Amino acid sequence: MNRQIRLVSRPQGMPTTAHFDVTDAPMPAMGDGDVLRRTLFLSLDPYMRGRMSDAPSYAAPVNLGDVMCGHTVSEVVESRHPAFQRGDIVAGYDGWQQFAAGPAKDLRKLALDGLSPSTAIGVLGMPGLTAYVGLDDIGQPKAGETVVVSAASGAVGSVVGQLAKIRGCRAVGVAGSRDKCGYVVDTLGFDACVNYKTDDLVPALKAACPSGIDVYFENVGGAVFAAVLDVLNRGARIPLCGMISQYNATEPPGGPNLRALLVTRALLKGFIVSDHYDRFPGFLTEVTPLVRAGRIKVREDIVDGLDAAPAALIGLFEGRNFGKMLVRVSDSGQ
Ligand SMILES: NC(=O)c1ccc[n+]([C@@H]2O[C@H](COP(=O)([O-])OP(=O)(O)OC[C@H]3O[C@@H](n4cnc5c(N)ncnc54)[C@H](OP(=O)(O)O)[C@@H]3O)[C@@H](O)[C@H]2O)c1
Repeated sequence: MNRQIRLVSRPQGMPTTAHFDVTDAPMPAMGDGDVLRRTLFLSLDPYMRGRMSDAPSYAAPVNLGDVMCGHTVSEVVESRHPAFQRGDIVAGYDGWQQFAAGPAKDLRKLALDGLSPSTAIGVLGMPGLTAYVGLDDIGQPKAGETVVVSAASGAVGSVVGQLAKIRGCRAVGVAGSRDKCGYVVDTLGFDACVNYKTDDLVPALKAACPSGIDVYFENVGGAVFAAVLDVLNRGARIPLCGMISQYNATEPPGGPNLRALLVTRALLKGFIVSDHYDRFPGFLTEVTPLVRAGRIKVREDIVDGLDAAPAALIGLFEGRNFGKMLVRVSDSGQ
């Protein structure tokens, strides 16, 4: 049987596990040229909240009754395509299920060479590419500048700050606990980290950024964004990557006062990583060796078993994850 998790209703506000249904379906049928694979890891990402809603967005929602979408790393069980063999490890977009079958063109064969397969959907996958594209293309960091990133201990933020250090910048994180801030500075090598839940934001940002903020990589919105605007330097750049504090809002948020953008002549630019997959080869060429060499450190928060996915997704919106949120769906070679 093929265990699957389907979306069965659309949340207003914070999702609950009742919006999902766990079912056991028959094994998927294979056609000519298809590859059958078993999911090893499923990535859980904040964008999934958008797919649960039918409000207009940049991507279509998951239909009610359909298997939830998501990036996956899988092991090939059977192949009817010459480019894939049983045992190959592949990255795909198979969603919240134990098995999937479909055309080989939807899969990317991984050459892991000792890296965990999970890295292909984390630091060396969509979240890592998001950090790379947003920081370099919109942030355009120059050595000696100060880069601030929110959700700093997470999948995207942790790569932004570490890349900023590699680009010769001062890297400052904003995160939601003492443990996360400690990790960001002591393990990831950021220069400072502000705890947005306990620190007085503007003075804390001013202390952490004595030369002001040149790049603010925005992941959260709300009060953090408002405070950053008070510390922006002239000509600052703001890659607008995400606003997770608003994803479950039921009322329109009161926006920060954008006058600071006018005064500082700052650039604010939204981006969606799926428009930038042409950058994937260049990203892998630069970042894979950095991960191998330990210059970019990786922390994963892995829950076991597909049934744990709904609660773990909800945890992203409560800051319960510490690092890239993943589900271990099955073990290799089962
Ligand atoms: N534009 C794109 O194409 C693109 C692609 C990927 C991701 N993103 C965005 O990037 C951001 C980070 O994603 P990720 O995958 O790296 O997730 P993540 O940072 O690994 O996990 C989400 C984190 O967000 C923080 N958070 C949750 N609710 C919050 C709130 N109300 N206020 C402030 N912080 C809150 C929590 O950290 P704390 O405990 O520190 O609060 C939580 O751990 C999200 O906004 C996501 O939508 C955008």
